[in-house]
Amino acid sequence: MSATLQNDNFLRACLRQPVDHVPVWLMRQAGRYLPEYRATRARAGDFLSLCTTPELACEVTLQPIDRFPLDAAILFSDILTIPYVMGLGLEFQEGEGPVFARPLRSAADISALSQPDPETELRFVMDAVRLIRREIDGRVPLIGFAGSPWTLACYMIEGRGSRDFIHIKGLLYSDPALLHRLLRHLAQSVTSYLNAQIAAGAQAVMIFDTWGGSLSTPAYAEFSLAYMSEIVAALQREAEDRRVPVILFTKGGGNWLEAMAASGADALGLDWTTELGHARQRLGNSVALQGNMDPIALYGSPEGIVREATRILESHGSGTGHIFNLGHGITPQTPVEHVAILVESVQSWRPKTA
Ligand code: CP3
Repeated sequence: MSATLQNDNFLRACLRQPVDHVPVWLMRQAGRYLPEYRATRARAGDFLSLCTTPELACEVTLQPIDRFPLDAAILFSDILTIPYVMGLGLEFQEGEGPVFARPLRSAADISALSQPDPETELRFVMDAVRLIRREIDGRVPLIGFAGSPWTLACYMIEGRGSRDFIHIKGLLYSDPALLHRLLRHLAQSVTSYLNAQIAAGAQAVMIFDTWGGSLSTPAYAEFSLAYMSEIVAALQREAEDRRVPVILFTKGGGNWLEAMAASGADALGLDWTTELGHARQRLGNSVALQGNMDPIALYGSPEGIVREATRILESHGSGTGHIFNLGHGITPQTPVEHVAILVESVQSWRPKTA
């Protein structure tokens, strides 16, 4: 049996229930800005070994939780574990990011894709989840995650990060049915992957749609959101007698929040280009909102960081249904002491009483 949860502010905020303080966690909170992460990473040798060794993944997941009083932990892994176990030849190259040796370039490549079994091929992720739940000992909830089908397809077809997505958009505008076949396959993989994380102990899950914002409005609805909505509908939404909240994050998705909320997700992640107060006005009380400080604001002065965090908290206003976060991942040169200042300023903030 797992220990009872001592701090459930994050889970409560996702469900728009009352909280003691606005909860805060940071995308990429376990990462290169932390000296202890760099030390474990050096010991592991490379990034993929960190992801595939449950003891190391557990160790780095807990590093930010041990250092700062954050309100949630996020599984240390990567969205690219799915294409990795599908055998596309993933490597992380220094200064380049992820690169696939065998990107998808034909209908035959797409037809040949396997459907990975979460408890065998992706067992290292489930073992990490189980180990983290044991080691975290109920201090804060654990968030599991996956990439959106569209975002995974971007990497699998382009073979690496891209600015203009020539290959995948070329396919979208020439053979949309084939692209749909790939996205449907990935939606199934992501659904069973997230359900397995929930069964292993993830107490909330987040879908990262990093590249959904590169699409036109109709293409976003058809090629990204439709598949995320299918996933949301097929997730196991209760475990250990609690609701398991789902967070959808489309970077650059500020125009589509109403449609995203209609997916049935409990919370939406916002990048910093959308005003949180406007988003709240548009959506009423239908969903919780997560975000949305510019990660580069952490390079400002301590006073500047507190000012910006306070502006965001006040822009949302009520303090109910808000999960404080950055609008995208924390960057490697971020001063560690600035993170402590941010966490303190969010957790000590209280809404003005009417
Ligand atoms: O948030 C967390 O702390 C949990 C861990 C996490 C990582 N990647 C670890 C990581 C999560 C949630 C991700 C998601 C992820 N991975 C996304 C979606 C979120 C986003 O950032 O938009 C994407 C697009 C990826 C793919 C990926 N992985 C890229 C493009 C890169 C290189 C980027 C970089 O900063 O070098 C990675 C590597 C990666 N994933 C690192 C970490 C900590 C850096 C690896 C290292 O060199 O140690």
